[in-house]
Amino acid sequence: MTAVITDEKIPNNVDLAGDKRLQRALEAWQPKFIDWWKEMGPEGWQARDIYLRTAISVETDGWAHFDYVKMPDYRWGIFLEPKQEGRVHGFGDFAGQPVWDEVPGEFRNMLRRLVVTQGDTEPASVEQQRHLGATAPSLYDLRNLFQVNVEEGRHLWAMVYLLHTYFGRDGREEAEELLQRRSGDADKPRILGAFNEPTSHWLSFFMFTMFTDRDGKYQLAALAESGFDPLARTCRFMLTEEAHHMFVGESGVQRVVKRAAELMKSNGGDVRAQGGVDLPTIQKYLNLWYTLSLDLFGGEVSSNAADAFASGLKGRYKEDRYPEHKLIGSTFSMEILKDGKVVTEDIAMRNALNEVLRTEYIKDCQRGVDRWNKTLKDEGCDFVLKLPDHKFHRQIGMWSTTRYTPDGQMITAEEWAKRSGDWLPNQADEDYVKSLMKAVYEPGKMASWIAPPIKGINGLPETFEYVKP
Ligand SMILES: [Fe+2]
Ligand SMILES: [Fe+2]
Repeated sequence: MTAVITDEKIPNNVDLAGDKRLQRALEAWQPKFIDWWKEMGPEGWQARDIYLRTAISVETDGWAHFDYVKMPDYRWGIFLEPKQEGRVHGFGDFAGQPVWDEVPGEFRNMLRRLVVTQGDTEPASVEQQRHLGATAPSLYDLRNLFQVNVEEGRHLWAMVYLLHTYFGRDGREEAEELLQRRSGDADKPRILGAFNEPTSHWLSFFMFTMFTDRDGKYQLAALAESGFDPLARTCRFMLTEEAHHMFVGESGVQRVVKRAAELMKSNGGDVRAQGGVDLPTIQKYLNLWYTLSLDLFGGEVSSNAADAFASGLKGRYKEDRYPEHKLIGSTFSMEILKDGKVVTEDIAMRNALNEVLRTEYIKDCQRGVDRWNKTLKDEGCDFVLKLPDHKFHRQIGMWSTTRYTPDGQMITAEEWAKRSGDWLPNQADEDYVKSLMKAVYEPGKMASWIAPPIKGINGLPETFEYVKP
């Protein structure tokens, strides 16, 4: 495999020096990226030393390096998994034929749209989270926030590398636009809805990394199957970093849940009076971020999904596990809305692929929620957190035109208006959670509303100075 050259301007394992034109183009994009980072990245912490992980190769035993670094000096690099000789299309109409190293002309637009849509989410989340450094519950959490942020920056680099290398002039234009759109901006918003919602406090940050980053995992996993080999190799390595983001989310919520359960055992069990987030409020934020994330998988019955599969560009989650890879004549049994009623029907499998991926995602989310419920049980608390029904609070797709309770019963718009504040965070909940958000920057100390982590980063103690004053 290609060795990593780290003394260049752009660390990479793609022999960038061997393609002077590409190298010059990316070196010209680099200062624009740094300007974007300084303007839209974490506010107020750019001159501090942060204990961060940096990807330096794709070798499983030594891919990352940990040290203090100032964020604008972070070494954002380009890393693709090594090419597997003889790899063939694993699914779709080209199954069994050699994978492509160049963009196939007839699928160029579809492929570019997939790369741009994925690429756009990466800087969007950094923008959404840029104010959170002012209210971190501990230095450990502050560092994890910045770790997620710099790696989303690297994921932007990964997509920009593909655009510059394989899509000519329009690829370069798309790369510029990725730095120009802004999360939540009325005139030039980010492409997907959930990436325009502000992440206004740390409970939302943990829910975002639990549920929305997990959508990212499933999208990347589907693209990691791609018959366009450079995209597959890029996404495979991104998944290595992504695992930590979901750890931050799942363990973050777990610690908030644990703290709530602890506080329920003292002072008459009034969690809010003791500066915690009560479990019903946690459930509301779960409902919100889970459903915003379900929307990201796209329409339930989708010809775009069918086309992306047929053309070999986007597969299923872990395509290898399935016995059959062409999906002609097979069906998927799923709920659909027909004449105003919810019915279960068999849908042509290729058209159901968004729902197939969403179903895998839901199972993965449930495993995380089960672990939170285990924490509650261990604390002697009988409250059970639940994923709402997939039809609840949907804003995209088949379920967006009708209203449902969290357990999936259809209700009228009037009833929804009356009851939705019991199921989703209302202004009072948002104000309360925000009132808890006071920065704690003493090493090893935690805010009142969150339990300490089980262990520190990279084998270091929880009391380590993860961010220098
Ligand atoms: Fe990412
Ligand atoms: Fe992520």
